[in-house]
Amino acid sequence: MAVLKAPLWVAAVPTAAKSFVGNPVIGSATLNRWGLHTARMRIAARMARWRRRLLHRRVPADLRANFARDGFVVLPDFLPAAEFEKLRHEMLDAPWEAHEMRQGSTVTRRVLLDIAGLQRDKPALARFLGSDKLLSLIRYIASTGGAPAFSIQCILADARGAMDDPQCTVHADTFHSTAKAWFFIHDVGPEEGPFLYVPGSHRLTTERLDWERTQSMTARTHEKRDHAEGSFRISLAELQRLGLPPPTPMPVKANTLIVADTFGFHGRTPSPQPTRRIEIYGSLRRNPFVPWTGLDPLSLPGVKARVGSALLVLDRLGIARMPWRPVGRLKLDAPPRI
Ligand SMILES: [Fe+2]
Repeated sequence: MAVLKAPLWVAAVPTAAKSFVGNPVIGSATLNRWGLHTARMRIAARMARWRRRLLHRRVPADLRANFARDGFVVLPDFLPAAEFEKLRHEMLDAPWEAHEMRQGSTVTRRVLLDIAGLQRDKPALARFLGSDKLLSLIRYIASTGGAPAFSIQCILADARGAMDDPQCTVHADTFHSTAKAWFFIHDVGPEEGPFLYVPGSHRLTTERLDWERTQSMTARTHEKRDHAEGSFRISLAELQRLGLPPPTPMPVKANTLIVADTFGFHGRTPSPQPTRRIEIYGSLRRNPFVPWTGLDPLSLPGVKARVGSALLVLDRLGIARMPWRPVGRLKLDAPPRI
């Protein structure tokens, strides 16, 4: 069987595949000692720099400078106040078809969004998701021109806090640049589990490469599943050894947008109190090895306004399984159903 699968494992090397468990070639201790993992990182970083050059014109110079320095950008007061109020009402007043996932004591609720399905009933939300300012920034940071997947995300953490929430362990999502965006509907205070990021950790330094090489030789059998799947966890002591600062928590006001390269180390601050928080979440990740920014299947006419539905179809066909299960129609601030 391994003989039959071997060509598929090899074919996955020049793609975004990241699991050290699922692919014995990517996970091979010997190949990674010889530098397979670090070679993938170096090539992906070079291609990301190239593709960003193709995308930079649509992003203001000050935002590009902030991103180059920190690995993320924060934009308070992103929408005009009246437009933000409209968007907030559209989100909170009506029930949505939702999915939920439990990680420890934290439940993440997702509503997959299609711009096509929103234009009539939720015009402010459709305008937000289609805005050039938002899309250009996500694409620049992701270093690809594709269509981001957007959803409404609700984080429901109970009073036990989030000590068993894997998102609270500082980690990198994968081995290459990839963008995530959060647009906050409420204020998120320091005690409410704000996003955190290690400033400057999006850069592929010699120290990071050395650390990655060490991780890549043992990741396949690592006790933490997420680490073995290619989202490496890192301790505060290791961050220090890499010459990086401690993570910075980012409490925000409502109507703030954060876009981050989650190749950099990031996480969610553990929340010492029950938290119910609602945000618009976007993510964009494509093959990191290609020199072009187009040719994205989710950007095809007829698909790009229906990315949420396309993801549901891929889930049902078993092509791209999602960790969330459907829980029916509910209002965004309803108690969890799983
Ligand atoms: Fe992450």
